[in-house]
Amino acid sequence: MKFFIDTADLAEIREAVDMGLIDGVTTNPSLVAKTGRKYRDVIEEICGLVDGPISAEVLSIDYEGMMKEARVWAKVHANVVVKLPLTLDGLKATRACTQAGIKTNVTLCFSANQALLAAKAGATFISPFVGRLDDISDDGMQLIEDIVNIYNNYHFDTEVLVASVRHPIHVHQAALLGADVCTIPFKVIAQLAKHPLTDAGLAKFVEDAKKIPQ
Ligand code: G3P
Repeated sequence: MKFFIDTADLAEIREAVDMGLIDGVTTNPSLVAKTGRKYRDVIEEICGLVDGPISAEVLSIDYEGMMKEARVWAKVHANVVVKLPLTLDGLKATRACTQAGIKTNVTLCFSANQALLAAKAGATFISPFVGRLDDISDDGMQLIEDIVNIYNNYHFDTEVLVASVRHPIHVHQAALLGADVCTIPFKVIAQLAKHPLTDAGLAKFVEDAKKIPQ
């Protein structure tokens, strides 16, 4: 399973890259707004840090506006993936981008039928938001299971990119279900390696190592 980091914070991206764990980056308007910087400047800097798919989301909600932005993003860097919302205009733009050879990440997916439409439109990635479903007492990981099964039934090439990840269990379950990618906030990436028994065991080894004759 590929790990993308879900942030526009360059310091977090640099730290995650240094861990050697990152295969790509996803951003969205909310994450970029937090940086206080221009969208293009942030994406260009990220492209210089990570050699993998970098998702940049269109800000338009109409087809024409989406396509105008998609063409601009596609020229910024070969690794830029254009993020499009799962709306009828977004699906139309996904189809047009696919035909133009522009990679897409269809975002704000909350149902299996939406994911089916994105795959039929030729999306490169589909981003089901598991955390936001869990937040309203729905079952985000059940959606992932349904999408993986449906895509396998019809051999769709669209990659399942689990998004809106809230904790390490989401990562564990995404891997068990065979998701292609998990995009993970930096805080959760740091949590993945932590285990109290590892910490306790290492402390004991360090203590006992002092007893080894030098
Ligand atoms: O990539 C989508 C992700 O950033 C959404 O996460 O925590 O806003 O639901 P969240």
